[in-house]
Amino acid sequence: METAPGKSFLPPFRHFATQAIHVGQEPEQWSSLAVVPPISLSTTFKQRAPGKHAGFEYSRSGNPTRDCLEKAVAALDGAKYCLAYASGLAATLNIAHLLKAGDTLICTDDVYGGTNRYFQRIASEMGVKPVFVDCTKLENLEAAITPETKLVWIETPTNPMLKIIDIKGCADVVHKHKDVLLAVDNTFMSAYFQRPLSLGADICMYSATKYMNGHSDVVMGLVSVNDDGLHERLRFLQNSLGAVPSPFDSYLCNRGLKTLSIRMKQHFNNALAVARYLESDPRVERVIFPGLPSHPQYELMKRQCTGCPGMMSFYIKGNLEHASKFLKSLKLFTLAESLGGYESLAEHPAIMTHASVPKEAREALGISDTLIRLSVGLEDPEDLLEDLDQALKAAVPEHTNRN
Ligand SMILES: Cc1ncc(COP(=O)(O)O)c(C=O)c1O
Repeated sequence: METAPGKSFLPPFRHFATQAIHVGQEPEQWSSLAVVPPISLSTTFKQRAPGKHAGFEYSRSGNPTRDCLEKAVAALDGAKYCLAYASGLAATLNIAHLLKAGDTLICTDDVYGGTNRYFQRIASEMGVKPVFVDCTKLENLEAAITPETKLVWIETPTNPMLKIIDIKGCADVVHKHKDVLLAVDNTFMSAYFQRPLSLGADICMYSATKYMNGHSDVVMGLVSVNDDGLHERLRFLQNSLGAVPSPFDSYLCNRGLKTLSIRMKQHFNNALAVARYLESDPRVERVIFPGLPSHPQYELMKRQCTGCPGMMSFYIKGNLEHASKFLKSLKLFTLAESLGGYESLAEHPAIMTHASVPKEAREALGISDTLIRLSVGLEDPEDLLEDLDQALKAAVPEHTNRN
């Protein structure tokens, strides 16, 4: 049914929304001329003669549905190559396998808990030494690099404190040193708002479980790169480690990408409405949203991103009881972990997503008992504000009279 991968039948479209819909999706690659890429479930592919195949041999090393997705994401990241994995953490694991025992990796200190756990407890057991520094300060990064450093890992914005790290600044520091790679976890911003490779990063990584798929029904990881040699090493690892996504998940994520540009615009609009509302509310101590001028790195955000996703954190007035009452009172926002889907979610980082971070470390980062994280979805913003208002009323009645 399929022809060789890598064949492009359409001109190289310049704009994001067009690329998301058309790159890698050419009907001519399927004998049926299907407009929507078929889910190619076959694990093996017929060879015309021993060693002579039409682009695919065995589904772990290459699959037509996955290939469509990888091509589309590469275009969106302005990359030559993209590789898809069974989860965001599987993508991280593959990148870490570029290192060998005795190498050091530098990781920013406020990073997704699972990334931290993998570097601290698994990569370190295999002889790769992780060093954690606050990369919002470039001088910290500069000081931490040694001849053993082979990888610098940043995540921006950070979670749940939404600090912004200067990607170009980090790339300039990292590339003063030979053979050190800069990897950026771009999960929060998505390819629509931030393109790390164009800012000098070597590797752009996603938990596609979040915005890239956007429908909370797929667990997947993605990695984009430009360098031919790096791509070859990662492709070898993708096949050798074997943590690849299923054709069905590849189909779903590819489908999710088709609306990425409109989803992200609406996430930004809704998040701005919610952030402005919370910032003006007497029942709220402080709002952290990089799209508000009150965010300490608002100018940096505007320089390196074209907008902000639906992620924000805020401190409710009071104590743990108030925070807990607020979360239990929400009717439209669902109390759940994860983020980046069309549905609005709320969670308590100290008890939920960041419970594994020691209390002192949590407090040093600002993850207190009154901190609440929102993933603002795509519902009508008026309904979202109404829900927040009624939950605040229930949780903090003493400050409810606003006039
Ligand atoms: C920023 C970030 N990176 C990586 C991951 C890991 O991705 P996955 O859950 O798809 O393995 C997550 C998951 O929450 C995340 O939020």
